[in-house]
Amino acid sequence: MTQNTLRQAKRLADYQAPDFTITDVELWFELEPATTLLTARYQLKSQRKGATELVLDGQQLELLSVKLNGQQLTPAQYQVTDDHLRIDQMPAQAELELQVRLNPAANTALEGLYLSDSAFCTQCEAEGFRRICYYLDRPDVMARFTTHIIANQQRYPALLSNGNKVAEQQLPDGRVQVSWVDPFPKPCYLFALVAGDFDCLTGQYVTQSGRTVSLEFYVDKGNAARAEFALEALKRAMCWDEQTYGLEYDLDSYMVVAVDFFNMGAMENKGLNVFNSKYVLADQQSATDTDLYNIESIIGHEYFHNWTGNRVTCRDWFQLSLKEGLTVFRDQQFSADMASATLSRIDAVKTIRTHQFAEDAGPMAHPIRPAQVLEMNNFYTVTVYDKGAEVIRMLHTLLGAAGFRQGMDLYFARHDGQAVTCDDFVSAMQDANGRDLSLFRRWYSQSGTPELTVQSSFDAEQQQFKLVFSQHTAATADQQDKRNLLLPVRIELLAKNEKQQHLLVVSEEQQSFSFAVAEPPVAVILADFSAPVRLHYPQSVSQLLTVVQHASDGVARWDAMQQLWSDLVRQAVRSSEPLQVPAEVVALYRALLATPEGDLAFLAELLTPPSFDLLAEQYQPVPVDALLQALQQIRRQLADELAADWLNCYQQLIPAPYAYRQEQVAARALRALCLDYLAQSGQQAELLLQAYQSADNLTDQLAVLKACRNATHPLFETLTAQFEQRWREDVLVLDKWFALKASLPTKDTVYLLPHLTQHPQFSWQNPNRVRAVYMAFAQQNPTIFHAADGKGYQVLQQVVLKLDPINPQLAARLVTPLLSWRRFETHRAAQLKAVLSQMLAQQGLSNDLYEKLSKSLS
Ligand code: PHE
Ligand code: ZN
Repeated sequence: MTQNTLRQAKRLADYQAPDFTITDVELWFELEPATTLLTARYQLKSQRKGATELVLDGQQLELLSVKLNGQQLTPAQYQVTDDHLRIDQMPAQAELELQVRLNPAANTALEGLYLSDSAFCTQCEAEGFRRICYYLDRPDVMARFTTHIIANQQRYPALLSNGNKVAEQQLPDGRVQVSWVDPFPKPCYLFALVAGDFDCLTGQYVTQSGRTVSLEFYVDKGNAARAEFALEALKRAMCWDEQTYGLEYDLDSYMVVAVDFFNMGAMENKGLNVFNSKYVLADQQSATDTDLYNIESIIGHEYFHNWTGNRVTCRDWFQLSLKEGLTVFRDQQFSADMASATLSRIDAVKTIRTHQFAEDAGPMAHPIRPAQVLEMNNFYTVTVYDKGAEVIRMLHTLLGAAGFRQGMDLYFARHDGQAVTCDDFVSAMQDANGRDLSLFRRWYSQSGTPELTVQSSFDAEQQQFKLVFSQHTAATADQQDKRNLLLPVRIELLAKNEKQQHLLVVSEEQQSFSFAVAEPPVAVILADFSAPVRLHYPQSVSQLLTVVQHASDGVARWDAMQQLWSDLVRQAVRSSEPLQVPAEVVALYRALLATPEGDLAFLAELLTPPSFDLLAEQYQPVPVDALLQALQQIRRQLADELAADWLNCYQQLIPAPYAYRQEQVAARALRALCLDYLAQSGQQAELLLQAYQSADNLTDQLAVLKACRNATHPLFETLTAQFEQRWREDVLVLDKWFALKASLPTKDTVYLLPHLTQHPQFSWQNPNRVRAVYMAFAQQNPTIFHAADGKGYQVLQQVVLKLDPINPQLAARLVTPLLSWRRFETHRAAQLKAVLSQMLAQQGLSNDLYEKLSKSLS
């Protein structure tokens, strides 16, 4: 492993076009679990006059042979290092043929070619192709791929790769060779190969121009029926992209393979998506409403990448947000159209406020287009993805839907088939709309969360309402100097007889706006969360309640309620007095619960106080104990004072036979909230038991289990034991049991975790299992994770160190909750720092973990 001092980050500023490119690739894979042979033939072309040195990337490869223009090279004619293959005397045009041996069975990092159970599978983004063969492993090298897969047909009836299947032949030795050609030049990160024994669910989609596309879902044997929802979601996504952006699918088949061993959610390989099985397989017994929602959104996301990512790709990995921010924005639009627009927006806002703001405030802070990277895998972040989507959304807000669409059209007209930059994208938006977006571009290079402070005043004589905005972005770990940004700010003025809506563009450090209005209005600032900033606009409880009741925008109504709770918590934390829920708030709850109507999912969301993580993000240092206590006081009071109201509401919402339909999803969400408060008293055992046993779907069942967990209700043990019995063999459902167990807020949990890992279905090699236990522990169990004795931190430390040699990507993801030690009070900060320092002192850390630990401690 590389010496710590030698680890060198790559910089965006150093970008250079490659000396050589590869125009055509032909691959022959002879698949065997422990010894796979790969022959790779490349057509290489010089891109710079006089270039003679070819440096290919490659890692953990056993090189067997090198041929240049048909001539075998001797080892003296090339050099091999840990990371490269170098050939010094390259002609301007040449055919290079390499042979390497791979051991997929030993690949637990799940990058490159690996085995998921007994199926072969690849993962090449970002830099995984170099673990398959030596290559110019960078996205600005785009080649046409032909892939031949040679394997035993009994064991691997399905042999898949990108593009179209062009041949299948029996070989004399009994094996079969299947050949694929992908007509679209692509970077190697979009390459994929899958070989295994699957069931296949098929469907069809006729595109707007009348071509028939065959849709194929490859899943574990016996699971075809569980892919039906995903198949229908794919058809909806294909149709949506035609209607919304005029974008049509471009190959004859679209294949999706569901695998159990996968580091991420899914991967958009051209024509052959690979999915984490948890984002494909679902039915009412085995998946919740949330699971179905996520499946639809991820199916959409990967499909939308076909244009935003594949047809137009990234020039280099610093541009990752070019495809991810844009594609997240597109999948959010899709979800908003398919399900509830308000709810999906609230979801996105929560992600930004809890995780993205926290990332900005921590040691890994980076702009949506990072300027330097040691390990690319560490930059698949909420900043690049979700803040990136907010930046696209701001463009959409500023240009309007029609202007945005024109920008998209121009982007594709200019760049189809190219590898481009974020700047190219903004230029297309700018040119299509005749707008100067130079100031807007700062969003790409500046990290950190802008603070937007607002003061309002009313001039009775002039009948004018005035808003004064000031913006400020504090220094972040990666960047000292900050400049003012361009912020689209949606506002609404609520007065007795009128409502005014405006879109303001704030671009100065300080800027004011005046509005003619007859009486002092209540102002809604940042409706729809129109810019990813932290807003400071003090309002009274009664003003906030006016917004909750009267704002036109649902997100603003929800936001006002969140603000109200945050203010109450802050007062309690400051004064060390117990938090008292104001009578007006109890009255509002009572009124809303009495006759639940309208969008019940929105109602449930409106009535849910902020999470620990969301509150924690607003403090420096984080007063862990005081926050947990305040949240507990809110819970108790809402449970006690409204006991009859929760029950009454719950009983009014009589469940219909399960269907994934919006009204039903909404009613289940509200029922779950009622149960949560009903369980809080530690009583209601009969009602809970009855709810659990009569449920005809997993959503309702889990609602009971979560309510029991949150309340540490005596029923929790009994019911989770039943659940484990029932779902033992079904790991995707069992993951919910693992997570429930790991997130129980009692002292014993920290000792229970090692026992969970002894469960016959647990495996350190499977990221879903590890995440189910330890992500749930670190993210959903703040009481125990942040326990004052530091045990929670130590548990996670051990897990991270254990995982690093097995799967560095996973280890580096799990370490995140430990990194921001500077944000905690002295005692916890010291414990965290000790835990981190011990880790950094270990020999042979992966780049993934090293980059995060060293930044955290520097
Ligand atoms: N590109 C994938 C997506 O967002 C995510 C991913 C990245 C998957 C790296 C695997 C590895 O759709
Ligand atoms: Zn993506």
